[in-house]
Amino acid sequence: MVDTNRLATSPSSTVIGEILSEAPVKRRRPEPTAIVIFGATGDLTSRKLAPALYNTMVDGALSEPTVIIGISRGELSPAAFADKLRAGVTEFSRQKVEPAKWDKFAGMLDYVGGEFAEDATYIALKGRLEAAKHKGTKGNRVFYLSVPPALFPLILQKLHEHKLIEKAVQGNGVPSCRVIVEKPFGRDLKSARELNEMIGKFLDESQIYRIDHYLGKETVQNILVLRFGNSIFEPIWNRNHVDYVEITASESIGIEGRGAFYEATGVVRDVIQNHLLQVMSLVTMEVPASFSPDDIRDEKSQVLRSVRPLTLNEVANDCVRGQYRGYREEQGVAPESQTPTYAAMRFMIDSWRWQGVPFYLRAGKKLAERLTEVSIHFKSVPLVLFKEEAAGSVLQPAVLTLRIQPHEGISLRFVAKVPGENISVGNVVMNMTYADAFKRPISEAYERLLLDCMRGDATLFNRRDSVDRAWELIQPVLQVWEATPGVHIYEPGTAGPAAADEMMGRDHHSWRELHPG
Ligand code: BG6
Repeated sequence: MVDTNRLATSPSSTVIGEILSEAPVKRRRPEPTAIVIFGATGDLTSRKLAPALYNTMVDGALSEPTVIIGISRGELSPAAFADKLRAGVTEFSRQKVEPAKWDKFAGMLDYVGGEFAEDATYIALKGRLEAAKHKGTKGNRVFYLSVPPALFPLILQKLHEHKLIEKAVQGNGVPSCRVIVEKPFGRDLKSARELNEMIGKFLDESQIYRIDHYLGKETVQNILVLRFGNSIFEPIWNRNHVDYVEITASESIGIEGRGAFYEATGVVRDVIQNHLLQVMSLVTMEVPASFSPDDIRDEKSQVLRSVRPLTLNEVANDCVRGQYRGYREEQGVAPESQTPTYAAMRFMIDSWRWQGVPFYLRAGKKLAERLTEVSIHFKSVPLVLFKEEAAGSVLQPAVLTLRIQPHEGISLRFVAKVPGENISVGNVVMNMTYADAFKRPISEAYERLLLDCMRGDATLFNRRDSVDRAWELIQPVLQVWEATPGVHIYEPGTAGPAAADEMMGRDHHSWRELHPG
């Protein structure tokens, strides 16, 4: 049988992008703001936050002045802090670091060294925020908690005691005060609820920005435009036409020195509870009343409520966990660790639209490719008319693939006649990539999200109810897996444990090959 999961696409295929509705008014620049980053010497700051802020400055998307204040243990001068960030920005920024632009960026940086538990740290921070206000940030502030969740209560309590945050509905006229909270938001349902309660004591929901950087990816945002901006998809986007859906987040890297973090987290908390369930909610939600933050978040939340919770038996029999060989030798990892670096599971959605359609989610580290995609597998034709002419190859149903990364784009696989006298049929793939279609650079998710938070637009951030529901859905998996050993070891560079193929095989399906289109 032809391996249609891996059909090559013609490199010469072209899609011309025509920009139909350039937003008439460019999105407004955020107000001048002071951004305070807790955990400023950590990995996330150097890989994502600093490059994102540098790029937004270079693109002219920030208002002046914008002040970035890093907080971490250990004394550093602002200049030394800038030097520390430079390596990360040079390596991870999508735009080149140029000396003049870097000097401008470095001029926006400030630093406070100190323990998060000590009052002196917050007294120093207050002084820096006052200085920023005098420069012109008008008291607008965003606090980015890029620290382990266990530190959130302490930091919020201290910010509150020192009157650096106060609970207030955000609105016009008052200086903004917002807090961005990194994922994982809690460790399980109970701790996430406690965390929400605790944060709710200090902040109004309109001040809380629970970040999931997947929602800032262009291609993830495009899911809604594809679905609701084209009339051809909605009529077939349901149980009558869709056979099953695969959502894959495969990474070729391992845990990149984050042993202690990963041991306490694992793939389910790291990627599935947040990134993949959020993507699934965008693929499956109903049409929102408008594109306003709460209308979109209402629909996402609604569909997550319709996802059928897994039973403990289903977790034991149908969900697959894996760990790459060599994980246990990583620094900070226990020699007998059972922490999964790979997971595959199936969800069903009890809604009018999706009843009976399985959604297969898988995510893993050290796999064959870096590849994140959603594949909608459509149903087979009711009657295959040309079996013999197809020379033994079985007709494959159409598959629409939304490639989130890399080679961001969309492809459609369908059946076509092979040229010639006979009615031979073959599979073809029609491919659109953003890079070719629009010839515009794709900005990084964190750029978009940081700007949105400074603007006060929470559309792409998670609301309390959907975080809560996502934990509810994942809870049985954590419960069973943490109570019983049973991780499958897989070889790095492969597609993960064979047990995941068997799981799909039992449903008479197979995973798409990890091949970056
Ligand atoms: C993060 C996870 O949220 O997402 C990482 O903590 C993972 O483990 C990363 O590597 C993947 O993000 P991206 O944007 O590279 O797909």
